[in-house]
Amino acid sequence: MDVGAWCSQSRVWVVAGKGGVGKTTVTAALATAAAGAGLSVLVIELEGKHGLGAAFDRPGPVDYAPVPLIGPPIEPGPDGADPRASGPPAGGVWARRLTPDDALLEYLADHGLHRVSKRLVSSGVIDVVATAVPGIRDVLVLGKVKQIERAGVADVVILDAPATGHAMTFLTSASGLLDAARGGPVRSQAADVVELLQDPARCRVLPVTLPEEMPVSETVEAAYQLEDRVGIHLGPVVVNGYEAGEPVLATDVDEAARALGMELEPGARHAIAEAQQFRLRRLRLVEEQVDRLARDLPLPQLRIPRLFTPSIGPAERQVLADALTRAVADLADPVSTS
Ligand SMILES: Nc1ncnc2c1ncn2[C@@H]1O[C@H](COP(=O)(O)OP(=O)(O)OP(=O)(O)O)[C@@H](O)[C@H]1O
Ligand SMILES: [Mg+2]
Repeated sequence: MDVGAWCSQSRVWVVAGKGGVGKTTVTAALATAAAGAGLSVLVIELEGKHGLGAAFDRPGPVDYAPVPLIGPPIEPGPDGADPRASGPPAGGVWARRLTPDDALLEYLADHGLHRVSKRLVSSGVIDVVATAVPGIRDVLVLGKVKQIERAGVADVVILDAPATGHAMTFLTSASGLLDAARGGPVRSQAADVVELLQDPARCRVLPVTLPEEMPVSETVEAAYQLEDRVGIHLGPVVVNGYEAGEPVLATDVDEAARALGMELEPGARHAIAEAQQFRLRRLRLVEEQVDRLARDLPLPQLRIPRLFTPSIGPAERQVLADALTRAVADLADPVSTS
């Protein structure tokens, strides 16, 4: 399936998974693939999360105001209009970081309370409210995501979600608030968020895992919980760091050495044989885990490779984006909405 059409099945993609499995890397690769297909993309980082910029050669944290990661700089329009309101251009990627404080400020300003809003936030009112109403911080942020989705600021919005445990709280907070609040703006905001999360045409989760025992087990468990407790639709699972292929055999090494006119020392042969055994075991383990994942979580898999580089920069991001594009092309059918 074409990656542009695939991404467009839902406006918001929540990239979720256990800590360190590659959520931020997959977010960067997916954004690149979607932009490569001509879509406009907005990536959302959450409070306390950094690291997206490195893959785009943009060090430092992303701010509340959008910054371009792919595409031209954001210049003010000739008429003085805020260029950020129009969103990223086709083929461009912008990123912004959403925090509850900023989301509250904007919410209050939008509701005619601009004058008091700054004072409320700087005086720590948000912390008092957050203690009194658990989940309010998450709903403020998701409410902002909903507003961005509704405004159609970008073709695709990719949310780099917190690690699984926190993501579960983050995504279930709205339904919790819905049960707790009888009426008022909090309830209506929570209701809107629940509506967004449960509509597969607007929002889906893209679970990310590594082909290893613990991440696979956690992914399976979290996926069912997300479906049951949030009612959110799951997209395919991204298997990040997938390794495939056959290791070189000892005979090939001998042949290669001969072709180079080299003589392998006995110690070197032994070391190479051990390395081959290690790699063979590793590849078998990877296959075992992706099979188990397919059995326990019957979703299509998008497998992208482990790159043997010290860090993910723009070149590596492009390699992973291309791998993701190919994996999507191999998907048999559109993601089911059942
Ligand atoms: N396919 C890959 N090939 C090589 N290195 C990778 C790959 N995917 C991720 N990494 C590296 O693994 C580390 C963790 O990746 P990443 O930061 O994307 O994970 P994360 O799930 O976002 O982590 P956190 O839960 O801390 O936010 C990073 O150093 C990243 O560069
Ligand atoms: Mg991350």
